[in-house]
Amino acid sequence: MAEKPAIGIAVVGCGYWGINYVRVFSELPNSHVVAVCDMSEERLNVVKQRFPQVEVVKSVDTLFDIPGIDAVVISTQASTHYEAASPCIAAKRHVLIEKPITITTEDAQKLMDEAAAAQVTLMVGHTFIYNSGVQKVRSYIDQGNLGHIYYMYARRTNLGPIRQDVNALWDLATHDVAIFNYLLNTPPKWVSAVGSNILHREQEDVGFVALSYGNNILGHIHASWADPNKVREVVVVGSDRRVVFDDTNPLERVRIFEKGVTTVSEKSADSYGEYSLLMRDGDIISPKVEVSEPLKNQCRHFLECVMNNRRPMTGGQEGLDVVKVMAAINQSMKSNGVPVELS
Ligand SMILES: NC(=O)c1ccc[n+]([C@@H]2O[C@H](COP(=O)([O-])OP(=O)(O)OC[C@H]3O[C@@H](n4cnc5c(N)ncnc54)[C@H](O)[C@@H]3O)[C@@H](O)[C@H]2O)c1
Repeated sequence: MAEKPAIGIAVVGCGYWGINYVRVFSELPNSHVVAVCDMSEERLNVVKQRFPQVEVVKSVDTLFDIPGIDAVVISTQASTHYEAASPCIAAKRHVLIEKPITITTEDAQKLMDEAAAAQVTLMVGHTFIYNSGVQKVRSYIDQGNLGHIYYMYARRTNLGPIRQDVNALWDLATHDVAIFNYLLNTPPKWVSAVGSNILHREQEDVGFVALSYGNNILGHIHASWADPNKVREVVVVGSDRRVVFDDTNPLERVRIFEKGVTTVSEKSADSYGEYSLLMRDGDIISPKVEVSEPLKNQCRHFLECVMNNRRPMTGGQEGLDVVKVMAAINQSMKSNGVPVELS
């Protein structure tokens, strides 16, 4: 059987993050990078030095004059995703857009409709869903190893990078909302959030978000780009086990704590009559987690979806679900934490 030809990729927006796509799609066997589009001459010079075989252009308007582009990665600033992606979909190219897909639900819905009409793949770069540590946590939940999920929390703090177009929640909490939605397989029912613009600009630099997922499951996210302590952590506490995903710990990215507390019926509580809570002690286990680059896993998945016409794990709908939550978070922050329901 004849092998399928490699997918020709263009990357639009080649700043801090976009250049990683040029590297990854150049390394993967089923793709090659044809072109890079960036409005900054300086960035194009960096690309030309590192990847001399790649064509460079300054505007999406002239991008498709270059032959051989099957799919486009959008890695411009979040507030420009719609305007950069829409012409690529109109030109019937498959599109992989960095997170968040857009910063309004209307624009996310429009991209979904446009991609459906053009019959092209639309995928969002929710990289953490392709992180083998997050996949491990999800497998523990799916197998029922944690028992009933009580709650989950995420901390994503660091000093910078500070963005100009969106606040720290849009930039950082987007990852955790995507992870929570994925782990629980549903978006939240309501959110409540407070934030503060401690650096005296228009945008919030730190935020604290509560999320209710129904079934008595709560989530909490602390996001900040003005914190000298770098933390990338997601914790899920269940009736049987607690699991910690720490992306800054390469040796023990996932740890399972077998200690916990459960409510037991009066009959099975052995002593103390009225006391019906059972505390358990147990081991701390550090399971083997496959070492792989999440961005590479994500790009490989995109290529598989394009080549086999499959629905991505993080398609337009999952991207829209995250944007709806982010919009609700921002609405709640404006009213100092008044809960906002999601339809
Ligand atoms: N998944 C992750 O872990 C992760 C990490 C970092 C950034 N990101 C996302 O990647 C995107 C880019 O972030 P960044 O840190 O690289 O930003 P950046 O500011 O460093 O780079 C953006 C680039 O896009 C270019 N650009 C903007 N509008 C353009 C247009 N219309 N046409 C052509 N070029 C244009 C700019 O000149 C710039 O070089 C953002 O959406 C961000 O949320 C994701």
